[in-house]
Amino acid sequence: MINERLPKIWYGGDYNPEQWDQATMEEDIRMFELAGIDVVTLNVFSWARSQRNEETYDFQWLDRIMDRMAAEQIQVCLATSTGAHPAWMAKRYPDILRVDYEGRKRKFGGRHNSCPNSPTYRRFAPIMARKLAERYKDHPSLAIWHVSNEYGGYCYCDNCEQAFRLWLQERYGSLEALNADWNSGFWGHTFYDWDEIVVPNALSEEFGGNRTFFQGISLDYRRFQSDSLLTCYRLERDELKRITPDIPITTNLMGFYPELDYFEWAKHMDVISWDNYPAIDTPVSFTAMAHNLMRGLKSGQPFMLMEQTPSVQNWSPYNSAKRPGVMRLWSYQAMAHGADTVMFFQLRRSVGACEKFHGALIEHAGHEHTRVFRECATLGQELGTLGDKIVDSRSRARVAVIYDWENRWALDLSSGPSKALNYVDELHKYYDALFQMNIQTDIIGVEEDLDKYDIVIAPVMYMVKPGFAKRVERFVSEGGTFLTTFFSGIVNEHDLVTLGGYPGELRQLLGIWAEELDALLPGQQNEIVIKQEWGALRGSYSCGILCDVIHGETAEILAEYGSDYYKGTPVLTRNRFGKGQSYYVASSPDAAFLQALLANLCEEQGVKPLLNTPHGVEVAERVKDGRSYLFVMNHNAEAMTFDAGSANRIEILSGLPISGLTTIPGRDVMIMEGSAAGRP
Ligand code: GLA
Ligand code: ZN
Repeated sequence: MINERLPKIWYGGDYNPEQWDQATMEEDIRMFELAGIDVVTLNVFSWARSQRNEETYDFQWLDRIMDRMAAEQIQVCLATSTGAHPAWMAKRYPDILRVDYEGRKRKFGGRHNSCPNSPTYRRFAPIMARKLAERYKDHPSLAIWHVSNEYGGYCYCDNCEQAFRLWLQERYGSLEALNADWNSGFWGHTFYDWDEIVVPNALSEEFGGNRTFFQGISLDYRRFQSDSLLTCYRLERDELKRITPDIPITTNLMGFYPELDYFEWAKHMDVISWDNYPAIDTPVSFTAMAHNLMRGLKSGQPFMLMEQTPSVQNWSPYNSAKRPGVMRLWSYQAMAHGADTVMFFQLRRSVGACEKFHGALIEHAGHEHTRVFRECATLGQELGTLGDKIVDSRSRARVAVIYDWENRWALDLSSGPSKALNYVDELHKYYDALFQMNIQTDIIGVEEDLDKYDIVIAPVMYMVKPGFAKRVERFVSEGGTFLTTFFSGIVNEHDLVTLGGYPGELRQLLGIWAEELDALLPGQQNEIVIKQEWGALRGSYSCGILCDVIHGETAEILAEYGSDYYKGTPVLTRNRFGKGQSYYVASSPDAAFLQALLANLCEEQGVKPLLNTPHGVEVAERVKDGRSYLFVMNHNAEAMTFDAGSANRIEILSGLPISGLTTIPGRDVMIMEGSAAGRP
C-alpha cells in the first residue's frame, strides 16, 4: 500500500492555492469535500516562492496550506518544487541553464530547464528537499514525496561534456576499449585523449534530433543523460530518505517517454507514478499497454495515476473534451491495470499563462455546477464506497511482452533499414492482438524473471544484451514459448553487429538464419501464406515495413512469403527447443494474422481469455486476498452485451449479482467480484 494512512484509492490532484487568495482556497476546500477529494499535490512549481534569494527561505505560505489540508483530513503529495529553477538563480549562476541540441545556451524561461550536471542545480535542489523534509517530517498530512516534475530533456553544455568524459572513463576504463566498442576506426574517429570527445548534437555527430553518424557515442549519450537526471533525483531522494525514512518517494513518469530508461529509474523509486494524457483517438489498448509498462517497472507493484485531465488538455494541436463518461471510464481503466490512485492535473484552472485552458475539477466558472465537476464528484463518491477493496491488489498475467529503452534508442538511431520502423508501434501490434482477446499481458523489462510466464514476446529485439539470450534459452528449454520478429538479434549493447549471421545470439534458439533485409515502400505489401491450416490461422495475410529473408535451419516452416524474389521462402517459423518452442515472425503482419497466431500460442499453453466480449469491451483483472475483481469496461458509446460466465460474481458498484448474458451501457464500467481460484 502506498501509505497506510489512506487505505483506499486516492482521489485528488495538482493544486496551486499559492496562485490564489485565502477566500478562494476556502471555496476550493468546500468543493473538494463535495467531490470526495482526499489528496492534493502541492508545491510542484513553487521554488521561486519559497526561496527569494540565495539566503532566504520562507515556507510560511506552505505551512498555512499544509495545516488547512490537515484540518480537512486531506493528505498531501508534497513536491520538492525543483522542476523549475528561480529566475534569480539563473541570473547569478548561469551554469544552471542548459545548452540545447543546436548548441545554443538557453536563457531563463519555461521549466524542466536545469542542466542535470550543473553544480548549482546539484547543490540547491537537494538543499530544498532537505529543508522541506526537516520542516514537514512530522506533519500529519505528509503522505508521499513527489520529487521535481516530469524529468526529461537533454543538455549539451560544457559541464555535461566534462561529466560525459568521466562517465565514459568509468564505463570503458581505457580509450582502447572505447575506440573498439564505438568502432571508431570508421571515418577516422579514433580518440587519443579523453578530452577529444565532444557531446553528440547538431554541432557534431547528430542531426534531426535522432539521426547520428556514430551510434556508439549517441547511444552512450542517451544512457549518460538518463543517468545524469537520475542522479539529480537520487540526490534529492537521499535527503528525503534520511530525514523521513517512512515516507514513500516518487517522481511522475510519462509512460513510453523516449528519453529516460525508466527501468533504471524504477530501482530508485518506492512507488511508480505517471501522467496519462491520451488523445481522443489514442487506441484504448495503447493506454492499457502504457499502464502495464508502468506496472511492469516494479514487477507488478501498483502505481499511482499522478495526473490526467478531467476534461481537456491545452498543449495538443486539437484539445478535444473527454466525452461524458470517458473520464470515469479511463480512471477505472487505470485502476484495472494497477493504479491505486486517480489524480488530476489540476484541481483549479489557473487564471493566466499557458495552462489556463487546461481542464480542472474547478473550472473558470468557479462553482460546482458543471458537467465536469458532477462527473468527478460521482467518481469520488464511488471510490469512497469501494473503500480498501481494490487497493494493493495485483494482476496475474501469463503472457509478457518485452520492452527495452536501450533497444529503442539503438533502433531510433540506426541508419537504415527503414524510417517506417517504429519499435513502440510494433510492440503495440502484439499487445493489441492479446488485448482484443482479453488475454492479460504484462509489459516487462529485459531483466525481469521470465519464469513467471508461459509466453514471452520480444518484438524487434534488435539489441541483445549480455546474458539475455541464455536466459531466454533456459526459459524455452523448460517449456516456455518465445516469439521474436524480424530485425532481432542484430547487435550487442554497443550497437556492434554480432557477426556470423543474424539473428546472432538468438540463432540457435530460433533455428533460422536471416540473410537479407528488405524495406517495403509506404503502401507496399507482401503476403504471409499459411502452409497448413492451424486453428484460425489459414489462407493468407498481408505484411509490410520490413521483410527478413530467412532460411530454416532446425526450425519448421509454418508460412511463406507470397510474392517478390523471396516468394516461397519462410516468413513464420517454429523451433522446438528443449521442452518449449520459439517462433520467428519475419515481417510486420496485419492484425488478423497476429490475433490468429497469438490465439494459437495461448491455446498451446492453456492461457485463457478472462471473458469473451464484443469489440471495444475491455476486461482486466486485479486479485487480492483470494478475491478476483474483473473490470469490464465498455469503450463504445453504445450499450453492449457480453457473457459474464456462470461463476458467482457480485458487481460491486451496484451490489448486484451478475452472471450469464449481461448488458453494459455505453462508456460504463462493471467491477465483478468473485473467487480468485483457478488461474485464467
Ligand atoms: C504535465 C505536467 C503538469 C502539467 C500537465 C498539463 O503532466 O506535469 O505540470 O503541465 O502536463 O497536461
Ligand atoms: Zn548541461
